[in-house]
Amino acid sequence: MDIQLNGVSKSFGDQLAIDHVDFTINSGDICCLLGPSGSGKTTLIRLMIGALATDNGSIQIGETVMPNMHMLHNIGFMPQNDGLYDDLSAEANLEFFGSIYKLSKTTLQQRITEVLTLVDLTADRKKLVRNFSGGMKKRLSLAIAILHQPDVLFLDEPTV
Ligand SMILES: Nc1ncnc2c1ncn2[C@@H]1O[C@H](COP(=O)(O)OP(=O)(O)OP(=O)(O)O)[C@@H](O)[C@H]1O
Ligand SMILES: [Mg+2]
Repeated sequence: MDIQLNGVSKSFGDQLAIDHVDFTINSGDICCLLGPSGSGKTTLIRLMIGALATDNGSIQIGETVMPNMHMLHNIGFMPQNDGLYDDLSAEANLEFFGSIYKLSKTTLQQRITEVLTLVDLTADRKKLVRNFSGGMKKRLSLAIAILHQPDVLFLDEPTV
C-alpha cells in the first residue's frame, strides 16, 4: 500500500510543527525520517497513522483517506515512548493489544509465540514489564507492532 501526503500541515497552538509536507512512499519501500529533536518526526508519524488530524492537506494509505479507524488493522505502530502496561507480563501485554485486533484465540497464541521468538523474549514472557530493561521494553513494543501482521509498519525511534 502506498502512503501519500499532499500539502500536510499541523500546528499546536501558534506553533507550526509540520509545514506543507508532500511525499509518496511506495509499497514495499522503507522510508526513514531524519531530523533534529523537535523537528516533527513523531508528529508526522502520528498524522500518518491517524492519531492526529491534519490542519491542511491530506494523507492516504492505499485508497483510504486518513484518519480511518478500519485502517488500524493494517497498521503497526511502535511509539517513541512505549505504551506498555507495567503491571502486566510481556505475554499479558501481547494478549491485551492482540485482543484489540480481534484475532482468534488460537491465532493470537500462535502469533504471540512467533513474535516473542523473533524479538528474543520467550524466556521473559511471564516477567512483569516493570522489571524489563529499556531495550527489552522496546523489543516488546516491536513485537506488539507486528503482532497482527500489518501491511504498513511505523517505527518511531527504532534504533533505540
Ligand atoms: N501534543 C502536542 N502539543 C503541543 N506541542 C506539541 C505536541 N506534540 C508535539 N508538539 C511540538 O511539535 C514539535 C515537534 O515535536 P515532535 O515530537 O514531532 O518532534 P520529533 O522530531 O519527534 O522530536 P524527537 O527527535 O525529540 O523525538 C515540538 O516543538 C513539540 O513541542
Ligand atoms: Mg519523536
